[in-house]
Amino acid sequence: MTGVTELGYVRFGVSDLSEWRAFAADLIGLEVGGEEADRLYLRSDQWHHRIILEQDGSDDLIGAGLRVAGPTEFADMQTMLRDAGIAFELADEATARERRVLALMTLADPAGTPIEIFHGPQVDSHRPFHPGRGMYGRFCTGGGGVGHMLIQCRDVQKTLDFYRVLGMRGSVEYRIPRPDGEAMEIGFVHCNDRDHTFAFGLPCRKQVDHLMLEVDNLDDVFFTYERISESQYPVVISPGKHANDHMFSFYCLSPSGFQIEIGYGGRPATHQSEYYTGDTYGHKFQPPGN
Ligand SMILES: [Fe+2]
Repeated sequence: MTGVTELGYVRFGVSDLSEWRAFAADLIGLEVGGEEADRLYLRSDQWHHRIILEQDGSDDLIGAGLRVAGPTEFADMQTMLRDAGIAFELADEATARERRVLALMTLADPAGTPIEIFHGPQVDSHRPFHPGRGMYGRFCTGGGGVGHMLIQCRDVQKTLDFYRVLGMRGSVEYRIPRPDGEAMEIGFVHCNDRDHTFAFGLPCRKQVDHLMLEVDNLDDVFFTYERISESQYPVVISPGKHANDHMFSFYCLSPSGFQIEIGYGGRPATHQSEYYTGDTYGHKFQPPGN
């Protein structure tokens, strides 16, 4: 079946590239893999990049790159989108070259989240990943993509329907009780073994609430946590474990105001729906400034 296979890369518009360079490399451990006048390419494995930072002042997500397997699936995806009445634009050759992919189309989800569907990323196997600071292990990417994101959403059901057209699976996985007796529903979708690629339904001030990067060694979670705790970037959600993906993680504020989650131990997608009313433990919200 034709469908997206991973969150291959993300693009963020940022205000301050030099601040981001120090945050990403010195604190998080990402590699600055390339630099141009108005952008930085960040690596977490042997791809040319997994994150593009573009100086445009938006401090928000400007592109979520979803991969399809190859040219056949890229053509099939266009047919599926047309059949579903979802508008998209084929990118020109220059834009595809700039993203280091063979072909690219752009579209938006129901909340306006900018999506880029591509095939054929540039993989620089001649340049082994070199973390920006010492790491005990590595970032987990492989078939699971760069990580996951919590994104803007106005209607959980419409958002689930949209991502199902792209070939993803998923449903509501949290029903969090509210003081008024109702429940806040959070939807999750996956397209590979990573438990989820997108989550949506929680209040989100920007197009993106957080990007999760997974590491394969618990020591890197706490090593990063210690470095962040000693930095100017607040820990926004304390260490804890999620009920759905079993990820042990914490969240910190990035220089752009959205968050970065550093996680360890996520379980593969279950392929059967179930829901939770809260997390396993920890993950206390600590509003910045308090
Ligand atoms: Fe997350």
